[in-house]
Amino acid sequence: MNNNIPSPMRAEYLRHSDKPGYAQGVLTIYAGEDLPCEYRAFWGNANGKLESYTALAPIICTGEVTEFELAPYTLIPRGADRLLVFGATQRGKELSDCYAEVMLPQGASDYDLGKPLYEMQVQSDIHLSQNPEHSHNLHFAAVLEDIKKTSPNTLGLFINGDITNHGYVTEYDAFMEIIDSTPSAPPVYFAMGNHDLSTYDDLPCDVATANFLKGTRNTWSDKAYFDLWIGGVHFIFLASERARQRAWLSPQQLAWLDAKLAENRNTHRAKYVFLHQGMVDTVAGCLAYQKWHDVEQTAELTEVLGKYPEAVLFSGHSHWKLESPHTMKPRDEKLPTIFNTSAGGYTWDDTSMTT
Ligand SMILES: [Fe+2]
Ligand SMILES: [Fe+2]
Repeated sequence: MNNNIPSPMRAEYLRHSDKPGYAQGVLTIYAGEDLPCEYRAFWGNANGKLESYTALAPIICTGEVTEFELAPYTLIPRGADRLLVFGATQRGKELSDCYAEVMLPQGASDYDLGKPLYEMQVQSDIHLSQNPEHSHNLHFAAVLEDIKKTSPNTLGLFINGDITNHGYVTEYDAFMEIIDSTPSAPPVYFAMGNHDLSTYDDLPCDVATANFLKGTRNTWSDKAYFDLWIGGVHFIFLASERARQRAWLSPQQLAWLDAKLAENRNTHRAKYVFLHQGMVDTVAGCLAYQKWHDVEQTAELTEVLGKYPEAVLFSGHSHWKLESPHTMKPRDEKLPTIFNTSAGGYTWDDTSMTT
């Protein structure tokens, strides 16, 4: 060992599903002589870590034996035949030189999802600044370049609120500058977040909403909530109607949502709903102890969404990292599938520290 970060002695993987591609199960990690602060596990093959894949969710070392649950619906990437487990420093900043390797059951990554019907990208909380050199602005510009390379035929990039830090017109100008200076940028669509509503300033709600619509070049709606059909796919954007941290959805907006979800309904096709704030105990960042659930009308919204199991809801606002546990909540008898969309500007995790 060169870098003094303790590596695990060995690891075991008990997979709970025999469906090809499904990773759900338990990874048990046995420490060596010394305990590291954390572990990081990567999908791999005979050549080492699988290229283009980051680590699974952070694994905090809990003693000589540490158990880590791979969440339901986590997919094993094609080409992976093993997991590589490294010791890590706090927040995974550095990894041990050595690692423990555990093989996947034969055929575990042998599956074919077929040809996608379409591609789209979802992100939230880009928090643009009026300073074009601000890291948040640079992140957004990098995302546009990335999508151009990896998904040139995308239906669009959907940003789920907190476009700006304060809802300032100058911050929307910075957004236009980034779009206009990116040749062949993908189409970008926006839902409104609490920061766009000037939660922390005194701008009246209707003025902030008008600034949001104008600043995001929204020419199809004069309301903060609206819908679009793009390439035959239905996208529905919800938004708070009061300038505060919690989303406040009027009975009119909820009735409108119900009608929109029923419009040209095909129960075999997904339709996508965006709401910046998430509902309690649904996805990462919104679990009760994490305290970033912020929807006033949770019961009313649940009642509407529950009638449309083919819908997919995206929530943001918490800034919880995409590799956190519970990024996806599978649909149940009450709610459709929900995803946490993580954040473009900066991210948080269970340690409640900016990462
Ligand atoms: Fe945010
Ligand atoms: Fe927010």
